[in-house]
Amino acid sequence: MRYADLHQKSLLDPNGFWMEQAQAIDWVKPPSKALFDENAPLYEWFSDGMLNTCWNALDRHVEAGRGDQVAVIHDSPITHSKRELTYTEMRDRVASLAGALQAKGVGKGDRVIIYMPMVPEALEAMLACARLGAIHSVVFGGFAANELAVRIDDAKPKCIIASSCGLEPGRVIHYKPLLDGAIEIASHKPEFCVIFQREQEVAKLNEGRDYDWHSFQYGVEPADCVPVEGNHPAYILYTSGTTGQPKGVIRATAGYLVALHWSMKNIYNLDPGDVFWTASDVGWVVGHSYICYGPLIAGNTTVVFEGKPVGTPDAGTFWRVISEHKVKSFFTAPTAFRAVKREDPKGDFVRKYDLSSLKTVYLAGERADPDTIIWAQEQLQVPVIDHWWQTETGWAIAANPVGCELLPVKLGSPAVAMPGYDVQVLDEGGQPVSPGTLGAIAIKLPLPPGTLPNLWNAEARFRKSYLEQFPGYYATGDAGYMDEDGYVYIMARTDDVINVAGHRLSTGGMEEVLASHPDVAECAVIGITDELKGQLPLGFLCLNKGAERDSAEIVNECVKLVRDKIGPVAAFKLAVVVERLPKTRSGKILRGTMVSIADGKEFKMPATIDDPAILDEIADALKTLGYPQAKASA
Ligand code: COA
Ligand code: AMP
Repeated sequence: MRYADLHQKSLLDPNGFWMEQAQAIDWVKPPSKALFDENAPLYEWFSDGMLNTCWNALDRHVEAGRGDQVAVIHDSPITHSKRELTYTEMRDRVASLAGALQAKGVGKGDRVIIYMPMVPEALEAMLACARLGAIHSVVFGGFAANELAVRIDDAKPKCIIASSCGLEPGRVIHYKPLLDGAIEIASHKPEFCVIFQREQEVAKLNEGRDYDWHSFQYGVEPADCVPVEGNHPAYILYTSGTTGQPKGVIRATAGYLVALHWSMKNIYNLDPGDVFWTASDVGWVVGHSYICYGPLIAGNTTVVFEGKPVGTPDAGTFWRVISEHKVKSFFTAPTAFRAVKREDPKGDFVRKYDLSSLKTVYLAGERADPDTIIWAQEQLQVPVIDHWWQTETGWAIAANPVGCELLPVKLGSPAVAMPGYDVQVLDEGGQPVSPGTLGAIAIKLPLPPGTLPNLWNAEARFRKSYLEQFPGYYATGDAGYMDEDGYVYIMARTDDVINVAGHRLSTGGMEEVLASHPDVAECAVIGITDELKGQLPLGFLCLNKGAERDSAEIVNECVKLVRDKIGPVAAFKLAVVVERLPKTRSGKILRGTMVSIADGKEFKMPATIDDPAILDEIADALKTLGYPQAKASA
């Protein structure tokens, strides 16, 4: 079926369309229908079916004769190691870990936090939870103890599975002390922890609470797959909102499996046995969907890569991995290509490798700038496909359905709405605008299978954040426009969320940390444009009257505070002390205007501004920080 017909069918007959796609999944009890809309505007999919994610990701492929196929390739230029695990090996390892968890009382509905780097054991931990119907919540390794503690208190895990350490170029990330610190800060205490000891750093275990990954599994019976309802939460994944309290996005089991399976052929153009590499991290949604679940559900081989686009050891790493493991589809963030392009603009490294296996490249996580796409197309000589999605949706909202019909690529656009997504651009009053007009991007309810049904323990916040602004729609938080052909263009966020190197961060969360510094009276954090990372956070600090300390010292303390409280991933390194912040007469900080000043962009003087002279002070402060383009002229 061609894209246009397929998309139309998915909107006109969601039950028919998705029940057909559901046949690709193994059910213990098939669902009676796809869409459950009794509680609209809260929707569920396949609620009365029974199934198991791990069965669909591992066991069924072994049963079908795919047992000897490699399921997971671990390629770690950081540790100079490579390892392959077949589907049979993965099933056995996961069943063993699940058995040990079950023996310690972990069962359906229990939460398990996973804090691990890019090793196959992270996938095994996720799949072991799925095997038992336990709800995992993976926390990215670049977050500090405090962020981990916030998630422990919200998810209330029975158990935490962690690694002894992670590895960044040139330094070891001491996961275990971070974990111990987080448990100490958190009010909720897990019953026990399972620690995967890496040879690079063996952690000290707390007797009575911590178990070693291997001895924990010794002598236990492997666990069978536990069937769960279609609407059973498979996982919670925390993501940044406008405050320091992250949102716990719930992923329901059945819709996720059905949507991911559909996407593997229709978007990523992969058939069972093909190799898929997503260079992201299991701590992000992209890692959940396309390092772990999607490729395994579809019977592909997935690459788990522990390294960076540059420096491990050079800007040719991506091409080495693709050529060595015969990767067919490759997915990364634009920022990673910008890093490679900066070191190898002419593609000298590209030509060192045989890239004949590579058919398509996919980009997501942030806006893909046309220069980067053109560079990648020229170097790699394959279609470079931008696609747009969010932690909340779990899979692409807009993409080019390459495996179904390769549509013309329009630079600057992640192409068209995927099945089940009725994407519309609305004005402030919630009315659809004409093609080419900027507005808030919203999706008419219901959202398709795989997307979030709710937030963990926070239904009121779910309704307020996503459903109330435009009744009958899901508000994406992104602004942009659509053209006559239905191609969407994502231009900016409508909230205080910024995107740094493909990582979604809350400026509000950083402000909360800065405000806790004893000398800071008031502050604002904005995202300024950065050539490599897309955006970088920059803090403006107003000090308490009488704070007589050296302001450079206070700035350094503030930078350290954000790193200690949120983590290195916040990439918060720039802050400047100012006398006052620009505000409206009602006291609202004019962050948008400050962004325009920092980027040297034209802007309209806000009619309600309290004192326009402050804008010059902001521009001057930015110049001293090394931003000569800063200008306050409206
Ligand atoms: N554990 C601990 N620390 C981590 C981490 C992890 N898993 N990941 C990143 N960090 C640290 C980095 O070491 C860095 O620390 P530093 O301030 O001491 O240098 C800091 O967090 C910021 O990281 P990042 O913004 O990623 O910068 P970088 O300079 O290390 O790398 C890129 C820049 C562009 C190479 C890198 O961001 C990249 O590969 N991005 C791809 C983005 C991506 O995969 N996004 C996922 C969504 S698709
Ligand atoms: P995350 O939830 O971390 O995946 O971040 C989602 C946000 O990243 C979206 O709401 C967008 O703001 C941004 N984003 C993701 N993919 C794209 C894309 N292809 N183009 C533009 N912005 C994107």
